[in-house]
Amino acid sequence: MPELPLDAWRARADAALATALPDPDAAPARLHAAMRHAVLLGGKRMRPLLVYAAGALFDAEPLALDAPAVAVELVHAYSLVHDDLPAMDDDALRRGQPTVHVAFDEATAILAGDALQSLAFGVLADAPVDAATRVALLRTLAGASGAAGMCGGQAMDLDATGTGAALSIERLETLHAMKTGALIRAAVQMGALCGGAPDSALARLDDYARALGLAFQVRDDILDVEGDSATLGKTAGKDAAQDKATFPALIGLDASRARLDDLDARMRDALAPFGAPADALRALGRLAIERSH
Ligand code: IPE
Ligand code: IPE
Ligand code: MG
Ligand code: MG
Ligand code: MG
Repeated sequence: MPELPLDAWRARADAALATALPDPDAAPARLHAAMRHAVLLGGKRMRPLLVYAAGALFDAEPLALDAPAVAVELVHAYSLVHDDLPAMDDDALRRGQPTVHVAFDEATAILAGDALQSLAFGVLADAPVDAATRVALLRTLAGASGAAGMCGGQAMDLDATGTGAALSIERLETLHAMKTGALIRAAVQMGALCGGAPDSALARLDDYARALGLAFQVRDDILDVEGDSATLGKTAGKDAAQDKATFPALIGLDASRARLDDLDARMRDALAPFGAPADALRALGRLAIERSH
């Protein structure tokens, strides 16, 4: 099997992110520094990798893929900055660094998140693709970020906090699909859109991305129980401490792991018709399930 270009894509995303972010020396320098702290100091870059891998399946131009790769990571980074705020999960550690409100201050963290989100849509508006594709990218990321996607899922997460295992598994799946799955689906869709993928392929890839999105958060929930803070780069054991609605809280660790196996099979089925060119997407699916941080 030829070597997969995951490392090259990760480096490409890192470079494009550093270029897109505002100059740390320009005013307001503190806000710019906070934005760069949130984005550039670590992170697996899972969502940009999904953009490049889905785009490569349809021979999309790497230059066109940079815009959605950057945009989705900027929205993701903003979601983490706000997720860590005292009003939300109140976390002090992220990507092995102090969280933005700890390294700077709370108001700066709120504004950095806001500005990262605006920057994301500005980057997409300048994507070097035809106008119809650009609008489709904007619509896809907007839908995934807002009340019907990540923000809606975060609201449901906060509602359920302190009630632990009281949610039904169906509600918990919806919550996870929205808070984490929506941006992961958007990454895959945007990559494929840049390559002009036909509707049938978009739908099949969305099956893969739905399974991946849920698997990614189930693994996150398991790691919160099993992992240590040094490896995770974020505080372990927070979910139980805050009585969060998670897969392990609701169905236990063994059933959660079994669920990951089901989702793995669903991903493999969805990708089967694409053959070897989908190997990068397969590898990212495995990574979501097997990751240790
Ligand atoms: C963490 O996302 C938050 C979730 C949606 C589970 P990642 O695990 O992708 O975090 P980074 O980007 O690698 O820091
Ligand atoms: C957060 O889920 C998902 C987001 C949309 C930011 P978590 O609260 O479980 O993420 P971590 O564990 O803090 O990264
Ligand atoms: Mg949270
Ligand atoms: Mg959190
Ligand atoms: Mg978590």
